[in-house]
Amino acid sequence: MRINKFLADKGVASRRRADEMIQACRVTINGELATLGANVEEGDEVALDGRVLSFEEKKLEYYIMNKPKGVVCTVSDDRGRKTVMDLLPEGVGRVFPVGRLDYATEGLLILTNDGDLSFRLTHPTSEIPKTYMAKIEGTLTEKDLNPIRSGVELDGVLTKKCKAHIVETNKAYTKVHITITEGRNRQVRRMFESIGKNVQLLKRVSIGDLKLKGLDRGQLRPLTEREVAYLQGL
Ligand code: URA
Repeated sequence: MRINKFLADKGVASRRRADEMIQACRVTINGELATLGANVEEGDEVALDGRVLSFEEKKLEYYIMNKPKGVVCTVSDDRGRKTVMDLLPEGVGRVFPVGRLDYATEGLLILTNDGDLSFRLTHPTSEIPKTYMAKIEGTLTEKDLNPIRSGVELDGVLTKKCKAHIVETNKAYTKVHITITEGRNRQVRRMFESIGKNVQLLKRVSIGDLKLKGLDRGQLRPLTEREVAYLQGL
């Protein structure tokens, strides 16, 4: 088995992050520094930061959280800000967030120790639709959304076609439902900035058919078997 898959299976991180850990010289195989793409098998001693990881099975855990704003999606924060890890109740294992919502964004976040699922869901080729409710400062018309629907340039690369429609509008603000299939950094906020609009509030309300509904801010619940099977099939 590839070393990055082994680390993902142990719930250490996604395969991509596992590769970064290997490059940062944090992983050893039988006492030697691991190299990218190395293989491990039963009997090998794999360690991360000096801690040996066993080959035994681990229990896979899957949760859905309503991330509040003012919380970061990393495991630790060098600026001492609150992280989603601080919101995990006792009894929840060593799970980590699947993808990111930025500090000021709230809503649906999946947490798991299933590195493979995390890898697949966040892979740029997966194109899983993610829907957000964006509250924009001021008035907007359906026509104003056309550039956003057809693609705007962010860092020199066009965003993919997406769906967007107005849910409510008045002089003070406009609420837009927007569904994107990518996960670029601060993507929704930057898409609106590119048409001169400021996002005041941003909330992710669904990932594919998985909906946030029914969870209060900061709350989390285990995903049902059906929901896990659905995500595995995406
Ligand atoms: N788009 C954003 O701007 N922020 C997020 O957290 C997610 C999507």
